[in-house]
Amino acid sequence: MADHLMSTYARLPIRFERGEGVWLWDTEGKQYLDALSGIAVCALGHAHPAVARAIAEQAGRLVHTSNLYAIPHQEVLADRLCEVSGMARAFFCNSGAEANEAAIKIARLFGHSREIDNPAIIVMENSFHGRTLATLTATGNRKVQAGFEPLVQGFIRVPFDDLEAISTVADNSPEVAAVLVEPIQGEGGINVPDANYLAGIRRICDAHGWLMMLDEIQTGMGRTGKWFAYQHTGTLPDVVTVAKALGNGVPIGACLALGTAAEMMQPGSHGTTFGGNPLAARAAMTVLETLDSENLLLHAAELGQRLLAGFTEELSGIAGVRDIRGCGLMIGIELDRPCGALVGTALERGLLLNVTAGRVIRLLPPLVTTIRQAEMIIRIVVELVREFLAE
Ligand SMILES: Cc1ncc(COP(=O)(O)O)c(C=O)c1O
Repeated sequence: MADHLMSTYARLPIRFERGEGVWLWDTEGKQYLDALSGIAVCALGHAHPAVARAIAEQAGRLVHTSNLYAIPHQEVLADRLCEVSGMARAFFCNSGAEANEAAIKIARLFGHSREIDNPAIIVMENSFHGRTLATLTATGNRKVQAGFEPLVQGFIRVPFDDLEAISTVADNSPEVAAVLVEPIQGEGGINVPDANYLAGIRRICDAHGWLMMLDEIQTGMGRTGKWFAYQHTGTLPDVVTVAKALGNGVPIGACLALGTAAEMMQPGSHGTTFGGNPLAARAAMTVLETLDSENLLLHAAELGQRLLAGFTEELSGIAGVRDIRGCGLMIGIELDRPCGALVGTALERGLLLNVTAGRVIRLLPPLVTTIRQAEMIIRIVVELVREFLAE
């Protein structure tokens, strides 16, 4: 049936037909608990009534005009996103990669404004920033880059969670204009840096006049228990990128910026046809309202603690379990061996999860997950891990 699709994905042979909250049903009628949320997208779960109503209502009124004209829903969304993030301006696009492209372009404009001929951006090992040419170059994973050379110039890579390495680049590379980093690495294996890491980056950026740019595409929109992960650290970046959960599945991304960074783009410097159209902006507005009205940030923080405590109690100290870590509803269980096979066995038991970086079981359940459902996740994952390690 998939003969005419490019073979971009090694897809699992499963077809989902319907969803409601944390639940999905396949075409055979089998029910699954979705502990992955379409990789951190459906934070409000599937078919959330408020989002469904907003999309249907807006579809019947006006889906698209063009960024040639003012779009009231986009303006309201920008106001609200800036309010919750502490940023000043938003550029809307359609995906995470595009949000990061906008950030990269801002860094280059910023560099040129400071008379740097070839502005460079410091990026991290094991990072993931997307699949466009610039964002795959920024990504710290050779597998993502292989075959797509020549890569884009202007990136300097350092180890993640290593402030010394950034300082060393600062001493040796006058071309640097910005740092781009995930506050917690997602695809790289749910890597949580030292609590002072972001503050350290902020200090280095201030000392050298660089932009601090955070990729919050996976961590943002309440996933870690705050609107954005940097809000756990008392730092304020210059640029923040967001996508994934912003539209709960309706494709929309945003590049948010503050201060000088917010003033870099001028008419004609950047754009996209669909970005922030009335349908996508209305959906995202509803997501923000619902995260608020259902008090889901606090819930994500509390439920995340419960999940971490549950996994730690049941799994830590077991031979083969290397680490259990995370923040809010972004949780990784690292084993000492490749464990991709767990995705299939979890599906057989009616649970959607993911394995990233080869050995890290990644859980990104919807923010609407209840305590009972979280306990089901713990029970199934613990069983799976114990059985897998005993094999
Ligand atoms: C941190 C991060 N940045 C960027 C991206 C790319 O987003 P998209 O797939 O929407 O282009 C992802 C996607 O997984 C991500 O996790």
